[in-house]
Amino acid sequence: MKILGISCSPRTSGNTHILIAEALEGARTEGAEAELFSLAGKEIKPCDGCGSCHKTGKCHIEDDMATVYEKMAEADGIIFGTPIYFYGMAAQCKAMIDRTFAPPGKGKSLTNKVGGVVVVAGSVGIIDAVKDLYFYFAAKRMLAGNWVGAYVNNKGDINSKAGAMKAARELGQDMVQIAGKEFEYPREFARSHFAYGTHTH
Ligand SMILES: Cc1cc2nc3c(=O)[nH]c(=O)nc-3n(C[C@H](O)[C@H](O)[C@H](O)COP(=O)(O)O)c2cc1C
Repeated sequence: MKILGISCSPRTSGNTHILIAEALEGARTEGAEAELFSLAGKEIKPCDGCGSCHKTGKCHIEDDMATVYEKMAEADGIIFGTPIYFYGMAAQCKAMIDRTFAPPGKGKSLTNKVGGVVVVAGSVGIIDAVKDLYFYFAAKRMLAGNWVGAYVNNKGDINSKAGAMKAARELGQDMVQIAGKEFEYPREFARSHFAYGTHTH
């Protein structure tokens, strides 16, 4: 079983990174293979909405998204970690999830993977990012695991937040346990790629 943690903070070894690393330690105690992938220093350009990916099966933009998307497709569980930037997830995180509008490759899908969320903020905005990522899980037919939010500002401050560190470790453990149940949506759900919800007018 593989659990991938993606730190979307541009700050190397910042609070997001540390909290995800703790969650991954929790996953390892449950026997999972765990990897932390940081977007710091990586280039993830925003989706340009061209739609060509739905004809060609892949995104035409060449950057680091291919690497992270391959890791996402291989994992059984994915922990999305982001700092709050102006009341929402960091642009790096939003760019990455928007780019998963393109299919992840032939025969691959994010459907049935367990999603976890780690969010850090100075004072306000945590629930906004959690909500957006939970909607993302629903859209991708993923399974929502748990989420952890912590209020910290300076790089490394999270190390002194014992409650948040414990919650992160438990999040990692939960994800392995949920993934171990091998829940599957009906096969046709995986083929349909998205579940956006229904709006009536
Ligand atoms: C551009 C920018 C915008 C931010 N906006 C918010 C915000 O709206 N709300 C908040 O509580 N903290 C905000 N912060 C603080 C960060 O969320 C906080 O410092 C966090 O711990 C950084 O995480 P990191 O160490 O993983 O990079 C902002 C920081 C930056 C750099």
